[in-house]
Amino acid sequence: MKIRIDRGVCAGHALCAAKAPEVYRLDDEGYCCSDGEVVPVRLHAQARLGAQHCPEAAIFLDDEGEAAQPPEA
Ligand code: F3S
Repeated sequence: MKIRIDRGVCAGHALCAAKAPEVYRLDDEGYCCSDGEVVPVRLHAQARLGAQHCPEAAIFLDDEGEAAQPPEA
């Protein structure tokens, strides 16, 4: 899972980091700066929770990473 932040939409509400502090980071001005970061499997639920609480819907979670992984033998 990879995080995509629409920086043009993020308004610095910081609920993402409040709900999922292990996943989302804020820059010095309080805007989310986790764009492009890969979320480890153990934090996927937290990542979704934080995204759901963003009032601006600025967070998108890209699941392509897992789909591209080869199945275990
Ligand atoms: Fe921005 Fe939404 Fe987080 S507005 S700081 S991405 S809660």
